[in-house]
Amino acid sequence: MRKQVKNNVSWVGYTDWELESFHGDDYSIYNGSSQNAYLIEEEKTVLVDTVWTPHRFDFLENLKKEVDLNKIDFIIANHAECDHSGSLTELMKEIPNTPIYCTAAFVKSVEGQFGKHNWNFKIVKTGDSIEIGNGKKLIFIEMKMLHWPDSMAVYMTGDNILFSNDAFGQHYAAGELFNDKTNQCLLWKEAMKYFTNILNPFAPLVSKKIQEISALNLPIDIIAPSHGVIWRDNPMQIVEKYALWADAYQENQITIVYDTMWEGTTKIAHKISEEIQKQSPDTIVKVFNIAKQDKNEIMTEIFKSKAIAVGSPTAVNDILSSVTGFIAFMKSLKFKNKKAAAFGCYGWSGESVKILQEKLKDAGFNVIEENIKSLWKPTEEDFAKIPELTAKLLA
Ligand code: FEO
Repeated sequence: MRKQVKNNVSWVGYTDWELESFHGDDYSIYNGSSQNAYLIEEEKTVLVDTVWTPHRFDFLENLKKEVDLNKIDFIIANHAECDHSGSLTELMKEIPNTPIYCTAAFVKSVEGQFGKHNWNFKIVKTGDSIEIGNGKKLIFIEMKMLHWPDSMAVYMTGDNILFSNDAFGQHYAAGELFNDKTNQCLLWKEAMKYFTNILNPFAPLVSKKIQEISALNLPIDIIAPSHGVIWRDNPMQIVEKYALWADAYQENQITIVYDTMWEGTTKIAHKISEEIQKQSPDTIVKVFNIAKQDKNEIMTEIFKSKAIAVGSPTAVNDILSSVTGFIAFMKSLKFKNKKAAAFGCYGWSGESVKILQEKLKDAGFNVIEENIKSLWKPTEEDFAKIPELTAKLLA
């Protein structure tokens, strides 16, 4: 079913109500998602993106109800990842000669994934444009590494719509389609989770791209991303948020993460959280057991934090594997300008705190020397060190 976006532009995507994870199982989904494709019907008929491979038959069936496929003059393929290009193989069987406008990197990527089919690619660069009739045109903007080498956005003049592809999206299924009609709390939660887990590694490029797009002085009435809601009410609010988020974002929050074997490390975590609340009642404190809670949700809380404390007991001369994996993922997200402290229990060799400190430094955190290292179980002497550690994290 099509949904009108503005004038002759319609949404023809797929709402993925039942999706539970994305990028394999690397990204948790709790509120569904969507793959947004768009149909532009001016003097030229243009399809912007498709949907994920498993939904290709539904997509085609629905699209055929909306438009005679042979009337599609060209396809804009903003991104080769299979959630947007995975229906091309099926679509192109029906209209094999239709031009596909895309970046050079798209061709390599899509042929690598789906094989060479001699599709009619038209390679474009930033600033290139095509006329679509009724005085309107589409202007291409390369979005290299936001978040793949082939990523691209396209701007439609006249209706002033930026089809931004992955940028400004959310993994959020919203039948109501528009930002002003949906639950604001869920929308912003999902938008931040998406930025943290997908775009934060490329934050410096996000800042540069926002400056570049702003310098074009294009009036933007609508931002239509490839996932989640369409921003039509004050669309620049998400751009402004991205500018903030991409600039070593932090709130007055400290997040404590840990795993434990016999609850000793848990006790230290809880004591640190109490001390933070005592010393700074306005600071938000979050505490997570890494092994029991969702890593993408925790990363979003870390993204908001000015400091973190990470705990693990020593196990076989190392830290727990859950914490090793967590820190590896955290490193890949490239957080900036955040302090970190280490803590943990041990029974004999006691390496965990030192290993945590090294790994946290390697992950880009400003690690404080103060730490809590407890033999067997935390004692009052250990707890007596927590105020100093807390004061350093808060400073
Ligand atoms: Fe939504 Fe990078 O694909």
